[in-house]
Parts: sequence; C-alpha cells; structure tokens
Amino acid sequence: MRPNKFKQMAGNITFTMIKPDAVEANNIGPILAKINEGGFRIVSMKYLKLTKEQAGQFYAVHKERPFYGELVDYMSAGPIVAAVLTKDNAVADFRKLIGATDPSKAEEGTIRRLFAKSIAANAIHGSDSDENANIEASFFFSNLERF
Ligand code: RTP
Ligand code: MG
Repeated sequence: MRPNKFKQMAGNITFTMIKPDAVEANNIGPILAKINEGGFRIVSMKYLKLTKEQAGQFYAVHKERPFYGELVDYMSAGPIVAAVLTKDNAVADFRKLIGATDPSKAEEGTIRRLFAKSIAANAIHGSDSDENANIEASFFFSNLERF
C-alpha cells in the first residue's frame, strides 16, 4: 500500500470548507483568491451538499454545545466547497487568515471580516490542529495519496 501523503505532510496541511452562506452569496471565487494570496495551495477540492447526518458527524465535537442543532441545520442547508490546503505552518496560518469565529471580532482583512454574516453564518471553516486537519481531510477525500 502507498503511504498516506496527508500523514507524511502533517504540519503542512489544513482543511477548509466555504460554508453555505458564502456559497449562496457567490463568494467562492473571492475567497479562493484570498486563500491563494495567503500563500496556500489548493491540493484537493470539491463542491457538495452535506446531509444532516454528515454535518452532525463532522461537528460531533460540539455535540453538547447549545448551538449544535443550529450548526448542523446551517451546514446542511446548502452546498459547500471542501478543500485541502498546503503551506508551511498551515493550521495556524490559516486560522489567522480566516479570523475570529465572530466576524465582528475578526481582524480587518481576514476572510470572516470580509465575507461572514454572523457568528453562525461565518463563511469559512479552518481546522484547529494538525490531527484534526488530517481527520477532516480524510472525512471528505479518500484518495489522499494522489496529490
Ligand atoms: P470552525 O470550526 O467552523 O472553523 O469555527 P471555529 O473553530 O472558529 O469555531 P468553533 O468554536 O469550532 O465553532 C464551530 C462553528 O459553530 C458555529 N458557532 N455558532 N451561535 C454561536 O454562538 C456559535 N458559536 C459557534 C460557527 O459556525 C462556528 O464556526
Ligand atoms: Mg472549530
């Protein structure tokens, strides 16, 4: 079996989703441009609509949080773009590029500041650790060794 390249590259990949509000607002193009301008390469990408079950599974870590039901409904309400990105220090640098969860607290120029509507509809997801980046990338892409 060929090695899992995502594992080999731990530390250098992150996983993102352009969320339903940003897809609906026709902001896929401008957001991908920001991602490239931030120094990230897109190495896997797909456009799809999550089922409620998939959204629930993806965000299972938030199961006990009061906003979980709303989050699952929102993430399965319309199509998303899922992508794997590479860069040195990818996880931390991408969190910096997208900005705080609440767009009103996100720094000027960050993707959420520019494109998010609210704390719930906040335009984009970014992995919060190398381990989760690999888990999340594997959730969406099975042919990880190919890029
Ligand atoms: P993400 O996982 O989507 O990149 O966002 P994050 O790390 O900045 O924030 P996290 O705490 O992981 O929350 C996941 C997503 O849940 C929604 N949320 N809603 N209504 C609320 O108070 C609330 N808080 C969080 C957001 O869509 C957030 O991105
Ligand atoms: Mg998170």
